[in-house]
Order: sequence, then structure tokens, then C-alpha cells
Amino acid sequence: MTTLISYLHYQQRINDFLTAKLESLAVNDPKLLEAMRYGLLIGGKRMRPYLAYITGEAISASLDDIDAIAGALECIHAYSLLHDDLPAMDDDDLRRGKPTCHKAFDEATAILAGDALQTLAFDILANHNFSSTKNASKSQIQVKLFQLLVRASGYQGMCGGQALDLAATNKVIPLSELETLHSLKTGALLEASVIMPTICSERITNEHKVFLSEYAQRVGLAYQVQDDIIDLTSTEAELGKPVGSDLAANKSTYPALLGLEGAQDKAENLLQQALQALARLPYNTQSLADFATFIVKRRH
Ligand code: IPE
Ligand code: IPE
Ligand code: MG
Ligand code: MG
Ligand code: MG
Repeated sequence: MTTLISYLHYQQRINDFLTAKLESLAVNDPKLLEAMRYGLLIGGKRMRPYLAYITGEAISASLDDIDAIAGALECIHAYSLLHDDLPAMDDDDLRRGKPTCHKAFDEATAILAGDALQTLAFDILANHNFSSTKNASKSQIQVKLFQLLVRASGYQGMCGGQALDLAATNKVIPLSELETLHSLKTGALLEASVIMPTICSERITNEHKVFLSEYAQRVGLAYQVQDDIIDLTSTEAELGKPVGSDLAANKSTYPALLGLEGAQDKAENLLQQALQALARLPYNTQSLADFATFIVKRRH
């Protein structure tokens, strides 16, 4: 499949999976369920699911198993955005071209929708009928996936990174700290998108996991460098969220620390490092290479 067809195909696949998941929930509180649907299903590039699917393809994991991994990752991501936009955090009014969840509903509902999407991620993993591998039973696979997702999304991952991000507001921090912040805030979940599928593969070796991690860490950082660049150089219409908000909030960003050109060079270097890590894997990693390139060239 060409990259674009494969991207659209997997976007559709994860949207169908998540739609069915939400439809299967009993309606206790229609407003809360509507806010969850709003946060999860309207818009979004689905990059984490896509990364999980193309990794799964490369290492011959069952794509039915990847559905659950991709679904869980996207639920965590959606929850993180609902909370990130709240007045207590970034206080943003626009997300994915629409009013943010707390604007469309209210703050309490956006908080609860985020909470419920977070637990839905673990519900999906707990209730999926994973195929066992020669090394692990279904329940061993599930525990391993929980561990990876908790690590990527909790204190040692996304939440920890969000805390560092808030602490760094109105402050110039050194590049090394900025790198740690981003590795946790966005890198951890992107890395999990590549590493979680390896649990469902018979083929993967520990050495290969190291190269895949290396790839994911570089892509994760490149993604954030590019996010900072487009916050400065893109338009609100292109982006579907306000531009210049990092500058307005006085955040330390790559362009702020390195200059715009320095940040662009940084993104390009990270791309090259990601491609080098991939080249060491004995699989067809073309889609992963195309994805890394897309991350660095994206305008929104
Ligand atoms: C935006 O993530 C927030 C960050 C982690 C920087 P995405 O760029 O993946 O947002 P959507 O899901 O496509 O809206
Ligand atoms: C959001 O980062 C990251 C998470 C929600 C984990 P940002 O605050 O930089 O993302 P945008 O710019 O709001 O999309
Ligand atoms: Mg933020
Ligand atoms: Mg934000
Ligand atoms: Mg940003």
C-alpha cells in the first residue's frame, strides 16, 4: 500500500474500532458519553494508532491485536488533550478546529470525560481476546501491555512530562531539560506505540526492540521539535488550534532555544538518526521510514 492509502485505511480502521467501543457502552450519563465521543472521535490525525499498525505489519503481529493497542493509545492521547486544554493547564479554546471539550460542554464534564477515556484504555486491553504467542499466554500479554501503557502515560511518562512542561512555563530551561520534558510528555506515548506491538509478535528479538525504541525516541522528539516550529510558522486554519500559544505562554521551545533554523536542523538530524536505527532492522520498515519523514515535513 502507498503511505497515503495505508494511512487512510488505518485511520478508518481505528475510527471504526473506537466508534464500536463507545457504542457498546451502556448510556448512564448521555452528556458524559457525548463529551467522550467529542474528545475521542471528532478529528485527530491518529498518529499513535498508525504507528502501532505499521509496526505491527513490519513485525508480523496480528492486526486484530493491534486494534486494541491502537485503541488504548488513542484513548490515553484523547484524555491527555482534554485535560491539557483545561483552564488550569493550557487554557485553550480551540482543538481540532472545534471548541475545546470544556468550551463545548463544561469543565467538570471535560475532566470526567478525560478520566473515563483513560480508564477505557485499560478496559479495552483487559477485555480484548489477544492471541497467545509461543512466549506468552493471553493474560501475560495483557499484563505486559498494562505495564507499558502505565509507564508511558503516568508519572514516568506523559503525566510526568506535563508537570515538567507546566513547571517550565515562564522560564528558560536548558536544552537537556527540554529534551527530558518532551521525551516524557509526548515521546513516551509515541514510543509505546512502537513497543507495545512487539509484545504481540513471535519474531521480535530484544536487540530489535532496542532499535525500534531508538527509532521511536528520535521520531518522538522530532515530532515535538516540529510541533514547536509549526506553532510559530503555521496558521490557525491549517492547524485547527491557536498558533503562537507557546510564545504567548512563555514556554521554552526548540525555536526559542535554538532559533528557527537551528530547530529545523535539529528536526532533520533526528529524522536521519531515526532512519539509521530502522536500517538496522531485518524487516520491511518502509512505512515506518515514511512516517518519520512525514512527521518532520508536516505542517499541522
Ligand atoms: C497534539 O497531538 C498534542 C501533542 C502531543 C503535541 P497530535 O498532533 O497527535 O494531535 P491530534 O490527535 O492529531 O489532534
Ligand atoms: C500536549 O502538549 C501534550 C499532551 C497532552 C500530553 P501541548 O500542550 O504542546 O500540545 P498542544 O499544542 O496543546 O496540541
Ligand atoms: Mg500543554
Ligand atoms: Mg496544549
Ligand atoms: Mg505544542
